[in-house]
Amino acid sequence: MKYHPINNRLFIKNRKNFTSNMTPKSLAVFNSNDIYPISADSTMPFEQHRDIFYLSGVDQEESILVLFPDCPNEKHREILFLKETNEHIAIWEGEKLTKEKAFETSGIKTVYWLQDMEKIMFEIMTQCDTVYINTNEHYRANVETETREDRFTKWLKEKYPAHTVAKSNPILQRLRSVKDTIEIDLIQQACDITEKGFRRILNFVKPGVWEYEIEAEFMHEFLRNRSKKFAYTPIVASGNNANVLHYIENNQQCKAGDLILMDIGAEYANYSSDMTRSVPVSGKFTPRQKDVYNAVNRVKNEATKMLTPGTIWADYHVEVGKVMTSELLGLGLLDKNDVQNENSEWPAYKKYFMHGTSHHMGLDTHDYGILTEPMQANMVFTVEPGIYIPDEGFGIRLEDDVVIQENGAPFNLMRHIPIEADEIETIMNS
Ligand code: GLY
Ligand code: MN
Ligand code: MN
Repeated sequence: MKYHPINNRLFIKNRKNFTSNMTPKSLAVFNSNDIYPISADSTMPFEQHRDIFYLSGVDQEESILVLFPDCPNEKHREILFLKETNEHIAIWEGEKLTKEKAFETSGIKTVYWLQDMEKIMFEIMTQCDTVYINTNEHYRANVETETREDRFTKWLKEKYPAHTVAKSNPILQRLRSVKDTIEIDLIQQACDITEKGFRRILNFVKPGVWEYEIEAEFMHEFLRNRSKKFAYTPIVASGNNANVLHYIENNQQCKAGDLILMDIGAEYANYSSDMTRSVPVSGKFTPRQKDVYNAVNRVKNEATKMLTPGTIWADYHVEVGKVMTSELLGLGLLDKNDVQNENSEWPAYKKYFMHGTSHHMGLDTHDYGILTEPMQANMVFTVEPGIYIPDEGFGIRLEDDVVIQENGAPFNLMRHIPIEADEIETIMNS
């Protein structure tokens, strides 16, 4: 792991919050992700499943966490099953968690090697009535792959068909959406690394540079600051590429006069940051580009103010739509007729701004959170309006990550990342 150790108070507290939501005489199981194969003996780099990480801090493959708060044997109220390691195995496989290190990381005292799992599971399954399984109910999830968690669930249900099954996911969706101060600090670190990358490219971008060269500059800065990777596949989109919302090829040359939209963020300790900036290739916006840029920035500022406790996500989007409509009228992109005759299911502004304004952000870039429930303090959201104008050869999006406060405006985790058009120009020309 490239990141510094995380205070295990976080994981201890997360488990306590989770178990306080469980029914009597129940246990819950969480699995690591597989290491996904490519072909031959090639594999993708390991990425831990965010739920077992959230509850234990264990960032290692082939790990299982069991929580059984009512277990008659106190020793079995929290169990980690890990891949065996010892000095000999370490020579071949590199550093893996020892039982002591697993305790330090997670605060869990009972650690068994994986080969003891079936025997111990038999003992504790006979002591409980309900088993919580961990299914993926994220509103954007679209998974065809059978995960390690899915395989475990299949095995468990087949072997113990008489147990009642319950769902962990709704509990985790609620818990993970409200961040602890330790988590906010980790997200802040991810945002600070992203800032370093952005400042680096402001003095790098010039006519003739290739989009992938900009991507490489970000990656360089991320890696040297203990981020292992981009938090999501980055978008570096010059000119009309910015109007392809999911453009990820990043393989075109940037031309003088164009804008470059960069949706790019570092991960740190498995926490994401999610930033978008739009900058002029030549270091200076045209008057029209600047007008549109400032309109997007105003929408972003207005939207941010609406992220307060009690706000409902869908209502917020209706309000942001009104602000955007007024800006598009000001820019001459819509006229009064367009608005008067608009279809309420697909309002006129969506011609130029067709995606959502905010999503939860955290261990997943599109993080857990139940969108029909009111916003709460310490939820982290993105704010990311955009205006996309293929006819004019550019698209602009601006995106920051903010923390909802008990009172007043949200706290901007990207407050130090330049965003004002004039400031961007000044830095690019310095
Ligand atoms: N980078 C993904 C998003 O902005 O939602
Ligand atoms: Mn986003
Ligand atoms: Mn983004």
